[in-house]
Amino acid sequence: MLVIIWKESDLDNNVMMLSQLVYVSNRKPNCTHEEIDKILQSCKKNNPSLDITGVLLYSDTKFIQLVEGDSKLITALYDKIKTDTRHSNVMMISYGPIKERAFPSWHMGSKQMSGKDVDFKTDISAEDKAVFDNVLNGKEENGQKVLNLLKKFF
Ligand SMILES: Cc1cc2nc3c(=O)[nH]c(=O)nc-3n(C[C@H](O)[C@H](O)[C@H](O)COP(=O)(O)O)c2cc1C
Repeated sequence: MLVIIWKESDLDNNVMMLSQLVYVSNRKPNCTHEEIDKILQSCKKNNPSLDITGVLLYSDTKFIQLVEGDSKLITALYDKIKTDTRHSNVMMISYGPIKERAFPSWHMGSKQMSGKDVDFKTDISAEDKAVFDNVLNGKEENGQKVLNLLKKFF
């Protein structure tokens, strides 16, 4: 897991720190299509007013989510999401400050993926496939690689 530590001065109460967090988790069997709809409704209801953007990929058994926004709001959201009973084994892949958002126009873009047949926007290389497998297994520690891969879905 890659965690970038901020300088103490950056954590001044009044400074808005833009940060990005990526995690993977296991979608539980109780998380039906209806529940996915409810999750996306929560995103639609809550994320715009908090100015949280990002993307959510899901398969029958996995979630990969990237969230970006004010660091305090992102950690608060992650703490809430971690306790959600529709998934388990929530594992942070990367978290750190960013200069600009990767998905500024998505208050939570979502896409379904089907394990093997991943619907990439462009053809992906064998290297990308390997990163993707590592992401799904929670083994990818290079946040930039994960970001580059997620961008290929949208
Ligand atoms: C994989 C996953 C991703 C989620 N992403 C978000 C999110 O981006 N924003 C959000 O508000 N809730 C998200 N949720 C739902 C929260 O865990 C929680 O149920 C919801 O925010 C409660 O909203 P409410 O307090 O408005 O009822 C997600 C849940 C799961 C399982």
